[in-house]
Amino acid sequence: MEGQYDNRGQTVKLLPQIERRFSCTDFLDEPVGDQDITLILDAGRRAPSAKNRQAWRFIVINDSETKKGIQNAAFGQEHVGSASLIIALCTTNIDYRMPNGQLSYPIDISIASAFMLLQAESLGYATCYISTYDETKVREIVSVPYSMKVVMLLLVGKAGSRGLPKEKKSLHEVSSFNHW
Ligand SMILES: Cc1cc2nc3c(=O)[nH]c(=O)nc-3n(C[C@H](O)[C@H](O)[C@H](O)COP(=O)(O)O)c2cc1C
Repeated sequence: MEGQYDNRGQTVKLLPQIERRFSCTDFLDEPVGDQDITLILDAGRRAPSAKNRQAWRFIVINDSETKKGIQNAAFGQEHVGSASLIIALCTTNIDYRMPNGQLSYPIDISIASAFMLLQAESLGYATCYISTYDETKVREIVSVPYSMKVVMLLLVGKAGSRGLPKEKKSLHEVSSFNHW
């Protein structure tokens, strides 16, 4: 069965949230409860970050007018305006590089947002990452200070229709042991 592997005689399974997740473009007009919002944000807050710097700010956008503005800034993508929540994942530092020379903020924000996405899935919500937006416009709408960035948007809401998880490359194609 998909996602089940024999591990030393034991059957282990992927997290159901990982197995069923898909990028949703069809959201119902239903709010995300306050407690659920807190749980989703808390999942992001607890994520690992380089040197535990936690250089992030998560802006929850659930006001209809503001969502409309973000939809416009996202070149009119309808699901952006129809999701119950848009979480603007912002960094408070764009300069810090890790010892491997790479910038930490895209990685830190990716991990925090993945934690949020899985928490949202486990609460029965669907999600979608959005990177297609005019960052200058989004910054203006949610008053992001100079020198900080809106790295990504995460949509959360109840799915109108459940899409099928997309076809993914095989494990064999994308992984190996000990050598490339
Ligand atoms: C970094 C990133 C940026 C994305 N940007 C957008 C976007 O702007 N609009 C959108 O509808 N989906 C966006 N997506 C969703 C991808 O299209 C989707 O993850 C991909 O097609 C695989 O489908 P799946 O998430 O259902 O597995 C983005 C996903 C990622 C990870």
